[in-house]
Amino acid sequence: MDRPPTVLPTALEVQVRARPLPRHVGIIMDGNGRWAELRGQPRLEGHREGSVSVREVTRAARRLGVQALTLYAFSSQNWARPPEEVAGLMDLLREYLESERAEILDNGIRLNAIGEVDKLPRYVREPLERLRADSAHNTGMVLTLALSYGGREELLRAARDLAQAAARGELDPAHLDADDLESRLWTAGLPPVDLIVRTSGEQRISNFLLWQLAYAELCFTDALWPDFRTEEFLRCLSQFQGRERRFGLTSAQVNRDDTPQRAKA
Ligand code: FPP
Repeated sequence: MDRPPTVLPTALEVQVRARPLPRHVGIIMDGNGRWAELRGQPRLEGHREGSVSVREVTRAARRLGVQALTLYAFSSQNWARPPEEVAGLMDLLREYLESERAEILDNGIRLNAIGEVDKLPRYVREPLERLRADSAHNTGMVLTLALSYGGREELLRAARDLAQAAARGELDPAHLDADDLESRLWTAGLPPVDLIVRTSGEQRISNFLLWQLAYAELCFTDALWPDFRTEEFLRCLSQFQGRERRFGLTSAQVNRDDTPQRAKA
């Protein structure tokens, strides 16, 4: 892939850099199909242009210093799409894993995946596992692809795991806590999700990070995903920076000096 050109930051980027960033951003990348249909093109062209947005937003997040970026690339429910669209998306994922490999490694990004990854075809799973292993020691930013991912599926799996551990006598159901459950989610070890973005004007969560988004801020934008580039991303970050996060407390409490850091994040 070409090296990103050195460009001067826009005024918005300068402004966003001056304030605390979300540690973990999740994105529901919606509107690829509509982007293509508006241009009289096959839906797959929208997904292809959407991969360009993936590259731009990843670069911007890394440059800004976001710790974790999680992209909803393929849901558990997306398998039910027409077979040619599913096949096209799988091809695009493989192309992406091959074309972005060098940039991901060169920029200290750790590639991660969540979801029922074993359901992916081998030609996607292999480059994914290779890049996951080769980038495992990178510390710059964690880029997580949610692939064959569903929040309910993730919670069900964790519940099953907990029940089995209880049946084996390894944990006491009466003392089960949030950490017991969180440690069994695919996202274990990632920072708390601070911001969820959804593109294309839809305002729903669609089975994305259901447990993790409990206290996330939400940014809904009308931009279709292929049109969502650095400037749109910065606008969402700027919205986030303008929010007061209360985590159930009052505004007066979170503005007091002795309030725990998390409530002020
Ligand atoms: C939703 O838009 C998008 C998807 C189901 C796939 C997202 C995939 C990409 C952005 C490209 C490949 C991913 C990577 C990581 C390279 P939609 O098709 O539902 O749009 P619509 O609502 O307009 O039909």
